[in-house]
Amino acid sequence: MLMLKSHFKTNNRGHLVIGGIDAVELADKFGTPLYVVDEQRVREKYRNFHKAFSDRWSNVLVCYALKANSNLAVVRVLQSEGAGADVSSENELRIAIDAGIPGENIVFNGNHKTQREMELAITNGVLINVDNFQELEAVDKIASQLGKRARIGFRVNPDVKTPTHPYIATGLRESKFGFDVASGQALKAYQLAAKMKNVEVVGIHAHIGSQLLDIAPFEEEAEKLMALVAEIKERLNISILFVDFGGGIGVPYKPEDRELQPWMVGERVVKVVKRFVGEKDLSEPMLIFEPGRYLVADAGVLLARVGYVKERPNGPIWISVDAGMNALIRPALYGAYHHIELANKVNQKNDVSINVAGPLCESGDFLGKERKLPKAEQGDLAVIFDVGAYGLAMSSQHTAQPRPAMVLVNSGEAEVIRRRETFEDLTRLDRIPGWLK
Ligand SMILES: Cc1ncc(COP(=O)(O)O)c(C=O)c1O
Repeated sequence: MLMLKSHFKTNNRGHLVIGGIDAVELADKFGTPLYVVDEQRVREKYRNFHKAFSDRWSNVLVCYALKANSNLAVVRVLQSEGAGADVSSENELRIAIDAGIPGENIVFNGNHKTQREMELAITNGVLINVDNFQELEAVDKIASQLGKRARIGFRVNPDVKTPTHPYIATGLRESKFGFDVASGQALKAYQLAAKMKNVEVVGIHAHIGSQLLDIAPFEEEAEKLMALVAEIKERLNISILFVDFGGGIGVPYKPEDRELQPWMVGERVVKVVKRFVGEKDLSEPMLIFEPGRYLVADAGVLLARVGYVKERPNGPIWISVDAGMNALIRPALYGAYHHIELANKVNQKNDVSINVAGPLCESGDFLGKERKLPKAEQGDLAVIFDVGAYGLAMSSQHTAQPRPAMVLVNSGEAEVIRRRETFEDLTRLDRIPGWLK
């Protein structure tokens, strides 16, 4: 049975329609493989997320996690909705600034910030979430060299178990991120920072993991962060003005996955915050959230042309399409499921079991196995769903494949927001050394 989320339609030609445009026409016009992002869906998701928290708390900042999809136009859409940004590299920071997001609405995260990155962040008044003691010293020193005070918070590790892929579970005590809370390291960081001249310690931050579809870990995170905020106030008399809960709300990738609505998280998390503020007499902090996947994942699809169909006696049917792990690495890297349909046959019965391969020379290069699809033929158009987050952003040029183009669609209009790479793009940076000429 065809499973489509509410922002997709089908037309009377039996084709998938995204952002008011026939997917087959998009593929014919812009070529394949092609990422397509639905602008209205991104806006809808942002508004839904923001409302989930701002209905319950007056001071909320939603900082879009650029790592999910740092395309300038996508960031611009979110900027126009009022989003701030969560960045984790110099170039993400520059993209956020270029898209028009003011420095004071940007948070800078990561466990390995370079001097240059910190200079840029401090100069732009960005809130830096410091990850370790050496970084704290570095920030203080760089700010002093710049003659500025750096706005900082600390990334803390609240030791929260999250039922997700181990590579994207980040809140466990043994993970590489942040200051340990249980041993008192986190408190010590605040104590040290309070004595430093060139930092203004205003925030606290955690990010417990990604693709979470349960409320409980967020509630536990809120309890642990707010308990620490209260302890920091009581023991060090420091008021935490920004409590940043990170990202992590997941999306249903499989038809049977349940959905975690942000309001459900909002209800629980804000309840915890209110309780601590009331009972411990804390000043009301700004609550920051850093959603990436939730905002953009299901707004994006990948269109890929079926090149070959291979049938073997007693074997699985393989079709190969022109996008593989180079264009979308999540299936190969995490064993992630992405729903697949044939965009030109959405009215036909999905009654054939098919493996969908990419064009690369690795057995790990597949997009899905044992998928129920209509009988596939050369020239069909496969559509891979929920790829707006961590799709093109994590793509590569493996086997010298140019990265796909990306198109933004909105109510019947489509424009390229990232052009397809060319042979010249692929080889532009290579040099033949003098002795081989
Ligand atoms: C610090 C931080 N914030 C936010 C995010 C975004 O997470 P998600 O896309 O799951 O919302 C990540 C993802 O890795 C992260 O590391």
